[in-house]
Amino acid sequence: MSVRRLDPVQPESFEFTEENLAWAKAQIAKYPEGRQWAAIIPLLWRAQEQHGWLPEPAIRYVAELLEMPYIRAYEVATFYTMFNLSPVGKYHVQLCGTTPCMLRGAEDLKAVCRDRIGEPGEVTPDGLFSWIEVECLGACVNAPMVQINADYYEDLTPDSFAQILDNLREGKPVTPGPQVQRQKAAPISGLTTLKDRSAILRGGEPGA
Ligand code: FES
Repeated sequence: MSVRRLDPVQPESFEFTEENLAWAKAQIAKYPEGRQWAAIIPLLWRAQEQHGWLPEPAIRYVAELLEMPYIRAYEVATFYTMFNLSPVGKYHVQLCGTTPCMLRGAEDLKAVCRDRIGEPGEVTPDGLFSWIEVECLGACVNAPMVQINADYYEDLTPDSFAQILDNLREGKPVTPGPQVQRQKAAPISGLTTLKDRSAILRGGEPGA
């Protein structure tokens, strides 16, 4: 994974909207006295949702809100790839490059990203797309996969992935989840265990 740095172009300042500030104070109040720092992730997340990405003044603002050292908030913001430290496209692709996805074709999906979007971290001139490589997103059984905004797209091939990007660009509908004929993460070839229904029923009988 690449080094995560703050964007060289930053806004002058950041503050929550009135509504978000009320929400943030309610989150902080959930934690016991002296443990308010634990609200750091939801607050940074809300700041990112408000601004579109997470600029330095927002990290500092959240740190001040939680009365925590700025460096602690900075550490969190730069550690988690869910926090975008630079502007992203309307459709931000997080491409899993960890071993199971890599063995199942993540490198080919990266080639699609480079072809359709550009280099990691770049935003397309129309503002529609950006992409980065991330570590395991917890959907390894459906490898290779990407996350686009809040949705997972799984069991991808270069063709199916390119089609998803093209559909998004053209405003056509896309369907998150597995892109092959399988139910969620169920075995693609059908049941592999518990196939003997009589044995299951016997196991359910009293005294069996
Ligand atoms: S390795 Fe890609 S989701 Fe786990």
